[in-house]
Amino acid sequence: MSALEALKTELLAAVAEAADLAALEEVRVAALGKKGRITGLMADMRSLSPDERKERGQAMNALKDEVGAALDIRKAELHRAALALRLEAERIDVTLPVRAEQQGRIHPITQTIDELTAIFADMGFSVAEGPDIEDDFHNFTALNFPPGHPARDMHDTFYLPDRPADGSRMLLRTHTSPVQVRSLLKDKAPIRVIIPGRTYRSDYDMTHTPMFHQVEGLVVDEKTSMAHLRGCLVEFCRAFFDVDDLPLRFRPSFFPFTEPSAEVDIGCLRRGGELKIGNYGDWLEILGCGMVHPNVLENCGIDSTRYQGFAFGMGIERIAMLKYGIPDLRTFFEADLRWLKHYGFVPLDTPSLAQGLTR
Ligand code: DAH
Repeated sequence: MSALEALKTELLAAVAEAADLAALEEVRVAALGKKGRITGLMADMRSLSPDERKERGQAMNALKDEVGAALDIRKAELHRAALALRLEAERIDVTLPVRAEQQGRIHPITQTIDELTAIFADMGFSVAEGPDIEDDFHNFTALNFPPGHPARDMHDTFYLPDRPADGSRMLLRTHTSPVQVRSLLKDKAPIRVIIPGRTYRSDYDMTHTPMFHQVEGLVVDEKTSMAHLRGCLVEFCRAFFDVDDLPLRFRPSFFPFTEPSAEVDIGCLRRGGELKIGNYGDWLEILGCGMVHPNVLENCGIDSTRYQGFAFGMGIERIAMLKYGIPDLRTFFEADLRWLKHYGFVPLDTPSLAQGLTR
């Protein structure tokens, strides 16, 4: 037995002295591995009498358990120590200011969406989204474009190639207006949402790209009027362009989903190649709007004798170009890093009305 005691003392000392996990593993193999010391003593037991074998067996198992437990404890200790070392070595001060040489920039489209979201959120709007791939019902029919109506040709629609037997071809949404329909069907009235997102039309030149962005606004309530529409847009344009004295002009227009409909111009100055937003006597068109057509409300299961609403839609690239002096629409989507460095925004400057939209 005393030989076992000695072995125990020796093994426990080796466990205690193991300085790292690799050394500890060596100790384990040397003690309990296939050719280990304890395993070796077990093999000798065949020569013993049954009684001796039983006694020795129990002592050996106790030794194995004790060494095993010591190994576990030491292993946990070494793990903790290794982790503490790593935490110390890889320490990050999250309060440190971002390094000046940071490379990433926020794309002007993302920045503009963040800015307009901050403005409309302050007026009590929430943000709604819908799918880029739409059906005819949401993109046209529910919005009061009757089948075969020439207004459908105002949009150069991308249709998907599949032609199901029922004629229900899917398409890439040509405007964000279908999300008006989705929001009304889902949330009913009263409602106050803006809908930023991608839209698609088959067109490409200085002022058109096949994919572009719009933001739609929709307010439906029991006493909504054209005056509310006007107030809302005046407030938005002045905040977005950061011009307090910015005049807006409403011109009659036509959209199937609004009646009456209007196009809105903001004041500007054109001089040489320059364009300045403000009260200078010139006008620049920036959006379409109107009172939601009763047919649209009824198509969405809303009682148009009780509810009225207004809606508006504008191109995000367009207002971004005006605000930030970006001359060519196509450059937005060329993924040119030099362009992004020039027109992009610093990531941590999130726009808010309290801190300023851009700093
Ligand atoms: N959907 C229209 C377009 O893409 C823009 C628009 C005009 C949206 C008037 C509206 C609106 O909500 O009321 O040309």
